[in-house]
Amino acid sequence: MNDIASAVPAGLLERLRAIVGPKGFVADQDAMAPHLKDWRGLYRGAVPAMLLPASTAEVAAAVKACAEAGVGIVPQGGNTGLVGAAIPHAGRNEILLNLKRMNRVRLLDAADYTITAEAGCILADLQNAAEAADRFFPLSLGAEGSCQIGGNLSTNAGGINVLRYGNARELVLGLEVVLPDGRVWDGLRRLRKDNTGYALKHLFVGAEGTLGIITAAALRLFPRPLETATAFAALRDLDAAIELLAILRAGSGDSVSSFELLPRMAIELCLRHLPNIVDPLPARHDWHALIEFTGTVADGRTKAALEATLETALEKGTIVDAAIAQSEAQANNLWRIRDGLTEAQVHAGANIKHDVSVPVSRTPEFIKRADAALKKIAPGAETLAFGHIGDGNIHYNLCPPPGADLAAFMAKTDRVGAIVYDITAEMEGSFSAEHGIGQLRRAALVKYRSALEVEMMRTLKRSLDPKGLMNPGKVL
Ligand code: FAD
Ligand code: MLT
Ligand code: ZN
Repeated sequence: MNDIASAVPAGLLERLRAIVGPKGFVADQDAMAPHLKDWRGLYRGAVPAMLLPASTAEVAAAVKACAEAGVGIVPQGGNTGLVGAAIPHAGRNEILLNLKRMNRVRLLDAADYTITAEAGCILADLQNAAEAADRFFPLSLGAEGSCQIGGNLSTNAGGINVLRYGNARELVLGLEVVLPDGRVWDGLRRLRKDNTGYALKHLFVGAEGTLGIITAAALRLFPRPLETATAFAALRDLDAAIELLAILRAGSGDSVSSFELLPRMAIELCLRHLPNIVDPLPARHDWHALIEFTGTVADGRTKAALEATLETALEKGTIVDAAIAQSEAQANNLWRIRDGLTEAQVHAGANIKHDVSVPVSRTPEFIKRADAALKKIAPGAETLAFGHIGDGNIHYNLCPPPGADLAAFMAKTDRVGAIVYDITAEMEGSFSAEHGIGQLRRAALVKYRSALEVEMMRTLKRSLDPKGLMNPGKVL
């Protein structure tokens, strides 16, 4: 035990240790350290102990013990979240509960196209389990090697296949959840149709662990794509992104699974900070689209559709160049540029990050309006606007000018955020498209969601968690 053990009522830690056993109880500060800071290094927390339960019964007993002691519980998955939602506060009465030991696939029913897995399953492991059964689990994001399905559902993660398959919410059929008082809700039904009252599962999706702890999920699977074609296209200009998407969607029989926007700066950043990246095109262009088509029949039609639609776009002048990956290695290089961007940004140093969405067709307008507005308050700063433009979701980041005083630059975070979010709101968009609220965007939630919406959220929170012990101080 350590000094901050005194922050929780006497006897609680012993009770928790008895519930989860020695393998499930960590009180050593060094061992907990990686779990107490977030990926971007914005938040640091402190707790007397981290629990690693191995079963739903252990989660339930631990939650009950904390509820009885009036101690908050912070659920944590792979700790890849970008808004500080999985990091406990420092100096508060909280216990961290990480789900990583609950990583079993309980059932894979290929005939039903469903997989039922525990919350601590790493997303990539789940994808692999589906593939081994000749099925496809489409949720895919740069952090898939370490994020957990429980974290993905709790953040309603998006990623690169939303255009075709939807967000995490669209993939969930049923959930098992430990409620804030320690009762277990078994909602692990695998039904495609179930109109029996309120859709309770959706309350917990995107709730960032504030309403309960997801311990298992029943998820939809899909036919496995047997043909994949990947391309990198240089756009005439930013507006051409939307024109290109229309050409691809109209001419491909709905084969477009990913459509991501990348500016030149994204390539430069990855070339500078990540190993073995190859510049995809011979000449420099301002804007690019990374495109993936997938098909479930291996007859060459998917690749042919990509070639034909890109040819049309070239003829129309929508794109000025394109490279179609001729091997898995070339496709991987393209995806490494896209998926490695968050990491490259961390290496590059401070930047002000936003994750907004607007109607798909208005994304170029959003970027131009935000760029123009920010020039006035952050002259010389460069924008790095990239991401899931096919979903209207732009990761709009502002990077300091070379040689800038970083502290002074970062001090503009709130002013910059207000400008970006005001424009987003004027365009009927969202100030957090996929990363959530956590600690980082709580003020924005109150400012940009209506008073009635916030009141309904608070009512829900109070009715499920009257003591306010489930991930306290997050979201609301
Ligand atoms: P954590 O970060 O551990 O937790 C996130 C939230 O969920 C916290 O509120 C936590 O309390 C809660 N939580 C975790 N597990 C549970 C549980 N079992 N029950 C209840 N609450 C729980 N996000 C996207 O949406 N799309 C992207 O494309 C994307 N790309 C990324 C790329 C990189 C390189 C990185 C670092 C992050 C990216 N993210 C992306 C953000 C992040 O990966 C996602 O939010 C992811 O879903 C978080 O999963 P996690 O297991 O790491 O959750
Ligand atoms: C991504 O799409 O790469 C992410 O959501 C992470 C980020 O915005 O950096
Ligand atoms: Zn993203």
